[in-house]
Amino acid sequence: MIAPLKISRAGLGVPIGILTALLLTTGASARPDKSPTLKGAYKGQFYVGVAINRAIATGETMGFGNRTMELMKQDIALTKEQFNQISPENDLKWSLIHPREGADGYDFRAADAYVNFGLKNHMVIVGHTLVWHGQTPNWVFAGTAPEADTPVQTPAAPARGFGFRGPRTTRAELLQRMRDHIHTVVGRYKGKIKVWDVVNEAISDGGPNVLRDSLWVQIIGPDFIDKAFEYAHEADPDAILRYNDYGLENPEKRQKLITLIKGLQARKVPVMAIGTQTHVSVSSPSVEEEDRTLTDLETLGLPIHITELDVNSAEGGQRSNGADVANNAATTQGGLVNDADQRLAHQYANLFQVFLKHKKAVKVVTLWGINDGVSWRSEGKPLLFDGNDQPKPAFDAVIQAAKSK
Ligand code: XIL
Repeated sequence: MIAPLKISRAGLGVPIGILTALLLTTGASARPDKSPTLKGAYKGQFYVGVAINRAIATGETMGFGNRTMELMKQDIALTKEQFNQISPENDLKWSLIHPREGADGYDFRAADAYVNFGLKNHMVIVGHTLVWHGQTPNWVFAGTAPEADTPVQTPAAPARGFGFRGPRTTRAELLQRMRDHIHTVVGRYKGKIKVWDVVNEAISDGGPNVLRDSLWVQIIGPDFIDKAFEYAHEADPDAILRYNDYGLENPEKRQKLITLIKGLQARKVPVMAIGTQTHVSVSSPSVEEEDRTLTDLETLGLPIHITELDVNSAEGGQRSNGADVANNAATTQGGLVNDADQRLAHQYANLFQVFLKHKKAVKVVTLWGINDGVSWRSEGKPLLFDGNDQPKPAFDAVIQAAKSK
């Protein structure tokens, strides 16, 4: 059994001194010096992090989201000022870090810049993500085994995120590719990346099956999850290994998560933290639903990380909290709800109060993007800063919520 490791007060086994040192560092400031910061307000409770894009990590605009150099510099200053943890929005995903087959098929440039940014700024660095059905190149699944060797995808339950068809690789070869990938990527950043999303979004949204229909399941079988965690643990025995998924506010999906994780624990698979993405909306979940979500997740006895927090204000996103990238566009349609800023502030205050209530388990809270301008759901204006990096009422509400502890 993996001990509930590193559930120290500062979380993650990072010495409290680093947090203290962080607060003393100076740097370009996007706001007046005495203004409260997110990382300061929640110091000693949990880390407050942010997903950063390539422009922030590299300091080059690269045409990203049509942001000017000036805005991008502001984004960087705000990241340093407000947050003590970072996650890579895209650059460590398989298709970006390992686009081609073989030892020469890796491209570490953006990932190296990301990790160096975190080291330079004394931040807790998260790796996202090793094994996922999305943003994974076709070559990973391709081979010479006829499709008939494995169950054929049914149109009703397509493996989303890629369009791979045709002859496939075998279980043995896919496990080998997965092991090489995990050992290479985790090994390269050993001791630097402290937390890894090892498996992302493996659970199905509907129907009786616990796991979604993906090529990982079809070619390897359900134990692809066990193997991914085992390989990651071999590659860096000190890293905190996370299972990460969305929609856990939904009781049925949450129950599947609990079944999955209990199975892993019974088989002594080194899963060490639960990542709950928390892509939610201004109307859902309620305080009671979020409280129940965290209470249920706590029964697993593992630290909980809120990994991809954002709160959708778009009309289209009020019906569900799904985060499946294939369905995402629909969630930002229909304009904004009425009194969007106030409702957003209210929901953020509620969520952070619930996180504080569960602070014994909640070690990290990560916002999925620095501001509305670069958010993957930018039409839904889901973050704490607007596209000019100015704090919204929701920012003040989150700072205020810290005082309710
Ligand atoms: C999203 C990124 O934010 C987008 O830039 C990209 O186009 C698609 O992926 N769940 C996850 C994240 O685990 O990796 C996704 O990030 C959002 C949903």
